[in-house]
Amino acid sequence: MTAATALAHPNIALIKYWGDANPALHIPANGSISLNLAELYTRSRVYFDSDLTSDQLYINDENISGAPLERVSLFLSKVREMAEITTFAQVNSHNNFPASAGLASSASAFAALSLAATASANLKLDEVKLSRLARMGSGSACRSIPAGFVEWQAGHDDVDSYAYTIAPPEYWDLVDCIALVDTGTKPSSSSAGHNLASTSLLQAARLADAPRRLKLCKDAIIHKDFDQLAEVVELDSNLMHAVMLTSSPPLLYWKPATVTIMHAVREWRLTGLPACYTIDAGPNVHILCQGEYEMKLAELLRRLPGVITVITAHPGGSTRLEIGSS
Ligand code: DP6
Repeated sequence: MTAATALAHPNIALIKYWGDANPALHIPANGSISLNLAELYTRSRVYFDSDLTSDQLYINDENISGAPLERVSLFLSKVREMAEITTFAQVNSHNNFPASAGLASSASAFAALSLAATASANLKLDEVKLSRLARMGSGSACRSIPAGFVEWQAGHDDVDSYAYTIAPPEYWDLVDCIALVDTGTKPSSSSAGHNLASTSLLQAARLADAPRRLKLCKDAIIHKDFDQLAEVVELDSNLMHAVMLTSSPPLLYWKPATVTIMHAVREWRLTGLPACYTIDAGPNVHILCQGEYEMKLAELLRRLPGVITVITAHPGGSTRLEIGSS
């Protein structure tokens, strides 16, 4: 067997996935929409090696054991099953951005792993099958497989729950200005959070309205209507955090600087700078704008108290193999 290397981008959810209909299969309680982030990536090399007596995982050159290795090993076993092999693998993964800070490192990690592992095991999966496989590693990873603006149709079972491109990366020059306020490990993983969603009284209302928000978001992308996008993206993020804050136990991911940014973005929008915020399961804030406002927005964000740094990212491509770099 040969080694294979794949590169995948994380994605920022514009309409969030929060809560599972089927946790074992990662079938989400609602569909979601996201954007791949070109400047950020995970590069993973996988080698199924008959000399190995167990799976090995290296992240940024550090040998990893415990729960993360178990999660990767479980995932590799699915690939082994598909390829009808029993060989263990060595996985070398590099992120060019801080992990576990609400930047969806599990999405790019499992997307890259899906492609590198299947290629190394001599399996050729089409985009839908690859997206389904990535979903088994981490729900949002299925959205990092296709390019650009992506929808994950919730589906009902393993076969019909996958993601596809709504519009290619070059379709709309949206920019994600990521304001980092904390780069440490987050207090509660999103995997644990999904299980708590249904303990909030608000989750049912959030889910009931999800088809409407999905349509508004999709239409806003198709028509490049930033005002409509801004309204639905902020509403959807606020709804998810309302569910988090009212679950049992409650989840509060925001830091004071998170709220400072939320206030500032709303104020800037009222005074003529079209921007909106969205926040995943962490304290950092993603602020979206159109290309022409990128410099101004990033500069304003950098001046806010509590902002450590601002990373800007543009619409990114699909998960892909890196030929010749294995
Ligand atoms: C808040 O896909 O990270 O980022 O499937 O357990 O790995 P697991 O969860 P994950 O959840 C993502 C949650 C979110 C919203 C989103 O990306 O849609």
